[in-house]
Amino acid sequence: MSLLTSFSLALLLALLTNVANARLISKFGNCPELNNYYINRAVNLVGPYGLNSHNAYTRSRSPQGQPGDPGTPGGPADLPLRRPFAEPQRVAGGNLTEADRDTSFDDSEDNGLVAGVDFSTTNVQVTGVDEPDIIKTDGRRVFTVSGNTFSVVQVLEGGKTGRRVGQLKLPTAPRDMLIQGDFLLALGDVSSYRRPVHLRYKTDPSYGEEATVVYQIHVRGGTPRLVSTLYLEGRYIKSREVDGVVRLVLRFNPLSSIWLYYPTRGVQPSQTKKWNREIIQYSRPGNWLPTYRLQRNGREQFGVYATCNDIYHSQNVFAGFNLLTVVTLPIAGFLEPSSSASIMSDAKTVYATKKSMFVTTSERRFDDVPTNSARWGSNYQTAIHHFALSDAGASYVASGAVTGSVINQFAMHEMHDTFFIATTDGATWWSRRDLSRSKVTAFLPNRDTRQLVKIGEVGNLGVGERIFSVRYIGETAYVVTFRQVDPLYIIDLSNPRAMRVTGELKIPGFSSYLHPVGAGRLLGVGQEATLTGRTTGAKVSLFDVSDKTNPRELSAWKLSGSYSDAQWDHRAFLYWRRERVAVMPVNVYSSSQRFTGAIVLNVSESTITERGRVTHNTTGLNWWDWWSRSIKRNAIIGKEYLWSMSNTLLQVNNLNKLNEVEAQVPIA
Ligand SMILES: *[C@@H]1O[C@H](CO)[C@@H](O)[C@H](O)[C@H]1NC(C)=O
Ligand SMILES: *[C@@H]1O[C@H](CO)[C@@H](O)[C@H](O)[C@H]1NC(C)=O
Ligand SMILES: *[C@@H]1O[C@H](CO)[C@@H](O)[C@H](O)[C@H]1NC(C)=O
Repeated sequence: MSLLTSFSLALLLALLTNVANARLISKFGNCPELNNYYINRAVNLVGPYGLNSHNAYTRSRSPQGQPGDPGTPGGPADLPLRRPFAEPQRVAGGNLTEADRDTSFDDSEDNGLVAGVDFSTTNVQVTGVDEPDIIKTDGRRVFTVSGNTFSVVQVLEGGKTGRRVGQLKLPTAPRDMLIQGDFLLALGDVSSYRRPVHLRYKTDPSYGEEATVVYQIHVRGGTPRLVSTLYLEGRYIKSREVDGVVRLVLRFNPLSSIWLYYPTRGVQPSQTKKWNREIIQYSRPGNWLPTYRLQRNGREQFGVYATCNDIYHSQNVFAGFNLLTVVTLPIAGFLEPSSSASIMSDAKTVYATKKSMFVTTSERRFDDVPTNSARWGSNYQTAIHHFALSDAGASYVASGAVTGSVINQFAMHEMHDTFFIATTDGATWWSRRDLSRSKVTAFLPNRDTRQLVKIGEVGNLGVGERIFSVRYIGETAYVVTFRQVDPLYIIDLSNPRAMRVTGELKIPGFSSYLHPVGAGRLLGVGQEATLTGRTTGAKVSLFDVSDKTNPRELSAWKLSGSYSDAQWDHRAFLYWRRERVAVMPVNVYSSSQRFTGAIVLNVSESTITERGRVTHNTTGLNWWDWWSRSIKRNAIIGKEYLWSMSNTLLQVNNLNKLNEVEAQVPIA
């Protein structure tokens, strides 16, 4: 008896030691391993109504649907559909040939104009890492997307005016674009995607699925041409571009292509549960993998963009069925998704430098379903996945977790291999956020164990408040928290193992976007608020942060009853250093003085003054047309021309005569 006990104890200890030494995150070795992993999880979770209760959305159908509906067999009686096993290939089929790979359109010329000097670019977080947007320019041309209209506007007279020289109606409305030379990628979502036939379930829905679409456009002279269209199964989360190479972050839910049953009159839950389990048990490896279709010259190629042995997963935590993938694509090259890195995870917020990408998501644990509501509180976790970027593609490095939630990409920073992340306790929807504290945590990747290892933390920021904005500048973090007043904290990161708060400033209102404007100066875009925390209108503050122990607000611009898109989308903000002006859209919602347009601010060493306002001829318009003339983005071309973009127009104003309109160019 006691021999047996001590034997089991020894065995248990051996097991535990093994677990501790083993890599917690590993790849699937082959397709059967991947297939079994998914099937075992899904079979245990599936119920009479499918898998919907576990955040793993599946579509359901009634077993008594319309006769003739391809998905209405009256139960999976006709399921003997195990197709012959074949490893799903990256390029599985289609008829694109070598000739279709040719992308040499040899007319890209250097126009001699310099970004930041002759024209402005998208306001990005990290210098040299471009972010997609609805307007892009190279100083010679302005490209816009509005709805599904892509426009090419030629810049004339050094930026004073412009003329639309080309347009392309795309099949769907893209979200945003990236540019290199004469090539652009317009990126968006579609809901009509069909998996390649050999990778479908027999019980596939007959209508489409969610996918990402990438339109590759080449502009020769003024004329745009759609070169290729790439569909990637899964949701488009975010993208980044460095030197013409795009990294696309996608989240694929393999269950969205399965139809399961729900009970209805005459069909008991026990029956549909049995059928649903059978359907899942019939899965083949290809059913779990994300597919793509690449169309070019009227021909097509298709395959999977992640293969069975590319995919990482956590061994101790089941993170759900979703697959997070970083796909690498050349803007001007052949759009085959030949390189990708994947981990089983959801995906939400993306931060990237030239060599790293970090993707965070709220941690979902499926092994302790039903979820305990206490988990939304102080135990709430954010998972972090770290990828390394190289010419060869992205590769998975490590994962970690931190308590709290992340506000946006600006909450993250990488410096000499150390990763920093600012979080506030609890999920964003936690009802007791009045108990929250915020902190900055530092991690180093351990490439052997594939873990992000916590090396330091500075906490207890803004007790009872939550983070509204973060900006890292070199070895310093600026963190704004808010509930009733706005503390701006300055944190010294120079020793990540001993980070410390060096200074703090409390003022009314909050900044939800912070922008560096020269040495020791920081601009905050946000809202003014009363002493009890009620917001009253847009506010831009100029902070002196040159003394890290004593930040000061030097000057502020305010407009009551207004807000700016720049409060939640940094791409709507423009800072033009040569003229020291900040430009952002502003809408006044108070009924007495309706205004929609852009505000131009002079930013000096010590003051902010309003230089003028720009609006797109909104007189006499009804509400909808008025709204469509609200300014979304601003750009500078030449020395003095401000180009503002609404849904329907590009308008040019001279920075020195803002009340006069130089030109208007329709773009929709
Ligand atoms: C290429 O294949 C697609 C689908 O497989 C087909 O519709 C198309 O007709 C083919 N095109 C040519 C030129 O063979
Ligand atoms: C803003 O700056 C410009 C250029 O320095 C100057 O001409 C203009 O008077 C300034 N406007 C205000 C309102 O300070
Ligand atoms: C502004 O709109 C009005 C009414 O639609 C129109 O008559 C006028 O010509 C427009 N002005 C400019 C500068 O486009």
